[in-house]
Amino acid sequence: MQINLVSDTVTKPSYEMLQYMFNADVGDDVYKEDPTVIELEERVAAIFGMEAGLFFPSGTMANQTAIKLHTQPGDQLIADKNAHIFHYEAGGVSFNSGVSCCLIDGNRGMLTAEQVAAAINRPNFFHSPLTTLVCLENTTNIGGGACYEMEELEKIKAVCDQNGLKLHLDGARIWNALVAKRQNPKDFGKIFDTISVCFSKGLGAPVGSVLLGDKKTIQRALRIRKVLGGAMRQSGYLAAGAIYALENNIKLLTEDHRRAKELANVLKKKEWVEAIEPVETNILIFSLIPGYSEDVLIEKLKQKNISISTIGDRKLRIVTHLDYREVMHTYVVETLSKM
Ligand SMILES: Cc1ncc(COP(=O)(O)O)c(C=O)c1O
Repeated sequence: MQINLVSDTVTKPSYEMLQYMFNADVGDDVYKEDPTVIELEERVAAIFGMEAGLFFPSGTMANQTAIKLHTQPGDQLIADKNAHIFHYEAGGVSFNSGVSCCLIDGNRGMLTAEQVAAAINRPNFFHSPLTTLVCLENTTNIGGGACYEMEELEKIKAVCDQNGLKLHLDGARIWNALVAKRQNPKDFGKIFDTISVCFSKGLGAPVGSVLLGDKKTIQRALRIRKVLGGAMRQSGYLAAGAIYALENNIKLLTEDHRRAKELANVLKKKEWVEAIEPVETNILIFSLIPGYSEDVLIEKLKQKNISISTIGDRKLRIVTHLDYREVMHTYVVETLSKM
């Protein structure tokens, strides 16, 4: 039994999901003739109370399209110092949009309205880049699956409105936040100009994200997606996996969250663990005491068929997911307990 806790993107589609995909009704989506893609886009837009959605092959492309939509070359966006859009999208912010990032030292990947307000460049001071966009992540990835409170998001939105800034949400793991916080997706729809939501992480679909926004914005996004090479043909087969995930897998996220918390409780008792960040969803980040190398721990676990990863700074990350079943969890708990 191999147990991969490196990421929630390692899941494989179940037999039932593949059957559902196999039976999808498809057409050429570049001509907007794929009924399954249209169904997915409409359903996700309705869940968040937004006007329109657009299916993308990846979360990265959906985020990069949003940044392109809301900025002009030379502009600056505001994001957390560990934001996925900055660190893990291969420099796309500058490559695709010619935009710089003002990175903020947030709390577990989350910004406050005060921090956002303080990071906005004075619009009349022509020496500085013009701040036009704020990008938030929910849940946060390197921040350890942390979830924003709705009140803070509302305050950030007010700062954006006062300063004429657009607000984008990288919602790669928004489903985890909705389940953990029991929040209403429509509240997110009211706050953000665009939201990217992903199906190939906690929800276990093999491919796909949807970018949400108003009709005009999504119409413009169609052209950007085309430029980036993301317009696909019979992509209804892929969208069907996302529809299956929406209908069947959201409710399973609570199990991922429970297991991550239980692993944190085991690690808490270990003298070689220095600190554990609060576990709100399916991501667990912990650090080792000085002198205890991450590589040694990773190797020891590997010998027991358990894979976890380092995120640098003496920190390690464990991510629970759909393919991490109870039998595996029991084994990991036992193995860690004995170490
Ligand atoms: C927070 C966050 N945003 C965006 C992405 C990008 O998603 P994709 O791998 O589908 O491009 C990821 C991927 O792990 C992520 O963790």
